[in-house]
Amino acid sequence: MAETTEGAAQAQEIAEEEVSEAQIAVHWREEEYYQPPEKFPAQANASDPAILERFSEEHFPECFVEYAEMLEWDKKWDTILDTSNAPFWKWWIGGRLNACVNCVDRHLEARGEKNALIWVPEPEDAEIQEITYAELHRRVNEFAALLRDFVGAKVGDRVTFHLPMVPELPVSMLACARMGVIHSEVFGGFSGTACGQRMGDAESKILVTVDAYYRNGELIDHKIKADDAIEAARKDGIEVEKVLVWRRIPGEYHSQSEMVEGRDFFIDELLEQYRGQEVEPESMPAEAPLFLMYTSGTTGRPKGCQHSTGGYLSYVTGTSKYYQDIHPDDTYWCFADIGWITGHSYIVYGPLSLGTTSVMYEGVPTYPDAGRPWRIAEKLGVNIFHTAPTTIRMLRKLGPNEPEKYNYHFKTMTTVGEPIEPDVWRWYHEFVGKGQAAITDTWWQTENGGFLGSTLPGLQPMKPGSCGPGVLGIYPVIFDENGDEIPGGSGKAGNMCIRNPWPGIFQTIWGQPERFVETYYAKYNNNPDSQDWRDWPYFSGDGAVQAADGYFRILGRVDDVINVAGHRLGTKEIESAAIEVEEVAEAAAVPVVDEVRGKIVEVYVALKPGHEPSKEIEQKVSAQINKDIGPIARPKNVWIVADMPKTRSGKIMRRVIAAVSNFADVGDVTTLANPEIVDGIRQHVQSEKLSKGEVPKELTEKEKAEIASYGQAE
Ligand code: WT7
Repeated sequence: MAETTEGAAQAQEIAEEEVSEAQIAVHWREEEYYQPPEKFPAQANASDPAILERFSEEHFPECFVEYAEMLEWDKKWDTILDTSNAPFWKWWIGGRLNACVNCVDRHLEARGEKNALIWVPEPEDAEIQEITYAELHRRVNEFAALLRDFVGAKVGDRVTFHLPMVPELPVSMLACARMGVIHSEVFGGFSGTACGQRMGDAESKILVTVDAYYRNGELIDHKIKADDAIEAARKDGIEVEKVLVWRRIPGEYHSQSEMVEGRDFFIDELLEQYRGQEVEPESMPAEAPLFLMYTSGTTGRPKGCQHSTGGYLSYVTGTSKYYQDIHPDDTYWCFADIGWITGHSYIVYGPLSLGTTSVMYEGVPTYPDAGRPWRIAEKLGVNIFHTAPTTIRMLRKLGPNEPEKYNYHFKTMTTVGEPIEPDVWRWYHEFVGKGQAAITDTWWQTENGGFLGSTLPGLQPMKPGSCGPGVLGIYPVIFDENGDEIPGGSGKAGNMCIRNPWPGIFQTIWGQPERFVETYYAKYNNNPDSQDWRDWPYFSGDGAVQAADGYFRILGRVDDVINVAGHRLGTKEIESAAIEVEEVAEAAAVPVVDEVRGKIVEVYVALKPGHEPSKEIEQKVSAQINKDIGPIARPKNVWIVADMPKTRSGKIMRRVIAAVSNFADVGDVTTLANPEIVDGIRQHVQSEKLSKGEVPKELTEKEKAEIASYGQAE
């Protein structure tokens, strides 16, 4: 088979050069450039090439003053960037501001009657809510008054939200921001247990949730998850004091979960006492934490990424303005979930800081059919669209010609969250954008606050499948394992790093500062005492390759993280759930390439002695993962194997089973402690897959490289 020969050739090449597998040479076909539509540059926020010079390295860090000046400050900063406690960078030291004032109050005078948010419920006949800046101000203040007087929330407290896409989510976020309370939103699709563990980690005693919400035509019980959350938090030593429950339909209650007297409260009832009340915004130091956003890493404990007030807000405001080209009069729709960083930065904080209209949609893209997004766009006059490759793939699959039936016009479109295949990119451009929109493929991470790699839509041509160069003020570099730079155009992949700090970078991992340094900065630092930022490149954990023109193509993660439909799941989290099943001794989770969702999870388990493989155990594993993490992590298959392929030091070789699951070349297994088991696993898994009707997906070079390096970095 051609694949095997190629694999062998690659292995040979690697052996000869003695490079790590993360550096496997990748042979892209170079894609053609696309130019922005002719009329675009004239109206663009960034249309003068001088901007590139303003943000060049010799102007660092002053270049970012341009972003800070887009905000309203109670007091201006004294120091732009303080590196004295590297790599804990501090931006805008001495400055004070309030994020809620910047996103709401400052627009009241000029734009109070303009829509801040437009919320589209999933049922198509239900009424769309238009929330003006004045109305948002009222709602935010009333809820803040409740948090202050009823809950007693104070500056620096953590309040956890487990909310889906309802307008009460941004209202709750902004109310916290107004009071200097740190919010920690957990994606609504996650399980109650996952939510509770995050409450435990953040030592958060207040939970804000909702009784139910619509998803795929059904009103789903959500409050029920609070029961699991409370239990999980208790295991971590946190007793939840209050559960505040928004109601999807005020006055009605659509949950099986009982309201516990003295602990659970309906917010709509409580709010009666706070009608018309206003809460004085706290003037916060620029470095005060604004929120936590949990993400997965290589160990079971999730990482609470702590984002700052001044640095974060300046960065999302600046990047929203220049990269998504948001003007106040645009109608902007980011079709993501606020439960992820994308929604925090680019549904709520960035767009509202710019005073534009931000659209929120409650439900799934294809409900009731694949024309839904385009009907929403037409009806609301959306002119900027933003979503993830997984959504684009799904819409293309189910309704390739749907967009042409609707009369809307996008000037820019963003894609985020995973690599987009050039083919899918072209459909997005030609069908969704009708050939008239500039596309920005934005590469970044939960930790980063905002975009790191993309093209300026009015100034830099697009290239399908490549995010582009570093964004303004970001100077990326690809390093090999030894810290040597891999130059652009070499055709070699390596570790994607950023040489400099930027205002949106997270401040630390909540409660785990050593892990922060270890995970993101230790790898390429040679002098831990250095206060010079040049000694502290940021290690992103992504593999990438740079073309001769400076554009980056992201390969995916080099660590043990699986990106399902743009949602990042930690291998270890999935595995620890599987191991909770009493018969299971060991588990390994691997990604399987999927046409629609990008990747899905498959889990391998080895049983404790004395247990026989059974369908029942497979189902128990699947159910446990579903319970602990949520349906997003539910494995496509659970494979019970006699033993896992392991290194001599006992580390499970995830890349080997990942290759089996993907019908890819398993590569060199001679260094394993138990190479003889690989063939048996392959035969068992692949023959069963084929008999279930699975058609092995033709893998791209990039996918092959990603699988070959899967789970190699720790
Ligand atoms: C990981 C971060 C950034 C917000 C959404 C996801 C992958 C992200 C791209 C892109 C290729 C991308 C990376 C990254 N990723 N954007 N445009 N092209 N890959 O945030 O959950 O923190 O995931 O998503 O692998 O490390 P996240």
